[in-house]
Amino acid sequence: MPFVDLDGHVPESDLEALVAIATRAATPGMLALELGSWCGRSSSAIASVVKETGGTLYCIDRWDVYPDDTNCTGTLSQIALVHDVLSVFRANMKMLGFHDVVVPMVGEITRATRLIADNCADLIFIDADHRYSCVKQDILNYWPKLKIGGVLCGRDYDKVQEIDAGDLVAQSEVDSFNGIHCGVIRAVDELFGDTRDWDGTSTVWSLIKTGAELPAYGRTRLNHNVEQ
Ligand SMILES: C[S@@+](CC[C@H](N)C(=O)[O-])C[C@H]1O[C@@H](n2cnc3c(N)ncnc32)[C@H](O)[C@@H]1O
Repeated sequence: MPFVDLDGHVPESDLEALVAIATRAATPGMLALELGSWCGRSSSAIASVVKETGGTLYCIDRWDVYPDDTNCTGTLSQIALVHDVLSVFRANMKMLGFHDVVVPMVGEITRATRLIADNCADLIFIDADHRYSCVKQDILNYWPKLKIGGVLCGRDYDKVQEIDAGDLVAQSEVDSFNGIHCGVIRAVDELFGDTRDWDGTSTVWSLIKTGAELPAYGRTRLNHNVEQ
């Protein structure tokens, strides 16, 4: 049975980057968190590393229509109206042999925070709502969950040279603008400045947590000449 991906759009280069990042974060029995799993494409990349360590990957997703997409015009909402995406996710994990490693947590990402201890995660991957306020909130909510020395990462940080500074801010509360995820770029730059790693070969950004404080929060100018 093949992997089923409804609206799959995760490139191979991102999956390779994720495997490399998860490998860097790996510890015996590692604990990984994924915010935004959909059909499990990125989950499978992370799970391949987590499984080797004897660890666990918790995947947090509502697997349903976006609650504020009241007319269900968004692509994912439309798909979720007619498909049981959670069942697809479970079937994919089982087919790949990751069902014993991956624990789905079904619901809102913000609501799961109270269940998750601080300083517990070796790896956190964020690929949920790409609007600026949501990305920023997800990072702020989950930063305390990451161990010092753990790795935080996310997807859809790319084409940074193609976006003009005004559009980066003006278009940051939509999912994407001309194929560019302004909300992701703006939130990551604002919170981490140049301390984030991104080599341009994939859309995955990452950084190692070296202290309790967010590296650039409230201190560093935004990248790409955007005034704060
Ligand atoms: C871009 S897709 C994730 C793609 C996935 N990482 C992959 O490899 O295919 C975004 C996912 O985040 C979920 N999501 C977005 N905002 C959420 C929220 N506030 N709470 C729970 N799930 C959310 C959506 O249901 C969707 O499955």
